Amino acid sequence: MASVVLGHSSPGGFRGRAGQARGGARAMLSEARMSLAGRRRGGHVDGRYDIHVRGQLVVVSTQPGATVGELRDSCDDVVVSDGELPRSAGVVSGFLLSGSLPADLVRLAVARVAEEPQLQLFVDLGRLDGDLSSYAPLGVDGVGWLGDVPVVAMSVGSTRTAGEVDDLWARLLMNDPRRAVGREREDVTRLRSVVADLRNSLEVKNERLAAQRERAQRVRARLKNEKAARAKAERRREAVERSRVARVSRASSAMVRRLGGRPVVAVAGAAAFVVVAVAVGWLAAAGGIGAGIVAACAFVGAVASLALVLWAVRRAASVAQGQRHAVRKALEMLAERHAELTEDLESERTRHAEEWQELQVSVRRLEVGQSRTATAVRALETGLNRDVSRRTVENSAQLAQIQSAIHLFSLLPVEGRVPAMGGWAASPDLVEVVVDELLSRRPSLIVECGSGVSTLWFGLAIRHFGLDCKVVALEHHEGFGEQTRAVLARHGLGDVAEVRDAPLTEVDVAGYRGRWYDPAALETLSDVGLLLVDGPPAATGVHARFPAVPMMRDRFADRVSVVLDDMIRNDEQEVARMWEELLPGFSREDLRLQKRATIFRRG
Ligand SMILES: C[S@@+](CC[C@H](N)C(=O)[O-])C[C@H]1O[C@@H](n2cnc3c(N)ncnc32)[C@H](O)[C@@H]1O
Repeated sequence: MASVVLGHSSPGGFRGRAGQARGGARAMLSEARMSLAGRRRGGHVDGRYDIHVRGQLVVVSTQPGATVGELRDSCDDVVVSDGELPRSAGVVSGFLLSGSLPADLVRLAVARVAEEPQLQLFVDLGRLDGDLSSYAPLGVDGVGWLGDVPVVAMSVGSTRTAGEVDDLWARLLMNDPRRAVGREREDVTRLRSVVADLRNSLEVKNERLAAQRERAQRVRARLKNEKAARAKAERRREAVERSRVARVSRASSAMVRRLGGRPVVAVAGAAAFVVVAVAVGWLAAAGGIGAGIVAACAFVGAVASLALVLWAVRRAASVAQGQRHAVRKALEMLAERHAELTEDLESERTRHAEEWQELQVSVRRLEVGQSRTATAVRALETGLNRDVSRRTVENSAQLAQIQSAIHLFSLLPVEGRVPAMGGWAASPDLVEVVVDELLSRRPSLIVECGSGVSTLWFGLAIRHFGLDCKVVALEHHEGFGEQTRAVLARHGLGDVAEVRDAPLTEVDVAGYRGRWYDPAALETLSDVGLLLVDGPPAATGVHARFPAVPMMRDRFADRVSVVLDDMIRNDEQEVARMWEELLPGFSREDLRLQKRATIFRRG
């Protein structure tokens, strides 16, 4: 009968190891191998849950090109169907349904798989939009990866529900380290490109700022030069004006001097004439020239002298007036020119002052923008670095869990499906520690408070190493107890591992009053060498796990280890401190596991 084997893959791939059927109801998919341990290649483990298909896989997809591309080497042979589902005839191994397919086609595929149980059916959950209702006649067998296609494997008679698959799927996607790393890389790349953009814009702003500064310097230099040139021109103009004024005043003085000289000449001439006339008169009187002629000559001479004097005075007055007028005109012109120049200078100054003001404002604005951008870039970089460090820490924590899981799967052979570790169940690192405690201290009886995946791993270790030991898990919840029992049965561990129903009842022990496992369930337990306290759940009450030690210590072997999980919580830390008083002679070791734990040891 065909079946699917969930378990270890052999190094180098999935060679046709014969499937092991576990009961008719679990007859499942032929030739598929699902590794929960991670695939090993050349010593590297890539941590994926892989499914490989031998024979022909018929892909029914709304995007067949992309799907087939992603299958790569996961399948021997891939055929794209145009809607027909070919008969197997020993060639077809299974169907992969992908995309939004018509319900009729899905029903047909389901019917075909029901008819031919050797066929495998895979559904690409990544494209299914989450609706599994069309697959009601089938059960869900597991989830995994076909190449890069995330799939759920389905078969007739398996027992999982769609809800469980959603849960598995979420875990698969969450735990797939490549996706997580890919997402982080994308985030980091995106943030880096934002920072790069900001840097570019900062550079552009810096360039603009530098250009503005240069322009401002140029304007400042120009203003300085112009000021110097203006001052020089002013000085030159003033010198010219001064020399013109000096020239005019020199000319005026010369004119005055000239004017001053002419009346003197005239008066001197007149005086000389009068002297000549008087001399002529005296000569006439003395020598006999006619008195009339002399008087007439004297009169004419006096009149002529007077006219000459009058002409000279008038001429001098008119020249002086002309000179005064010219000087006044020149001064008026000079004042006008000076006013014009002052006005020009003033308007030039105003214009430059405005321009300067504008430049100052724009430089200030640019400086403010530049400092804001720089602050934003710094904040982004700080955030980015913090984000990267946080994710690095998270990745390391994830990697540590993966490593512990790999160690467990390589230490112990596992046949069949194993419930996921972590979350409510014990994390891989805790399971690794307690299995190690079992192997190094060899107890004859292990008692667990709270059943689950840890019970399974204890059972696997006891069987694999042929230890003279048993594990008894106390379980208050009937449903979870049944679940763990089913897992133990599936792995054939009924003889070494037991889940004991122990409903919570009121206990009053070592000053504690509250609910704990029914003491009746402890009756046959003695010589306990390893006690793992991972229950009852915290929601049961404050210090819910405290009674484990006072209730069990009389049943401890001489050599005993007591492990308390979930030390990450205050409640468990207080319980450990309270136990210290109840466990004299015990050493205590605190372990930095994902959820933290502590071990008390004696012997
Ligand atoms: C912390 S769990 C751990 C049990 C076990 N040591 C293991 O590794 O799986 C303790 C108790 O939680 C309960 N439990 C288990 N799975 C649960 C779940 N998914 N939701 C709520 N309670 C759960 C069970 O009653 C179990 O005894």
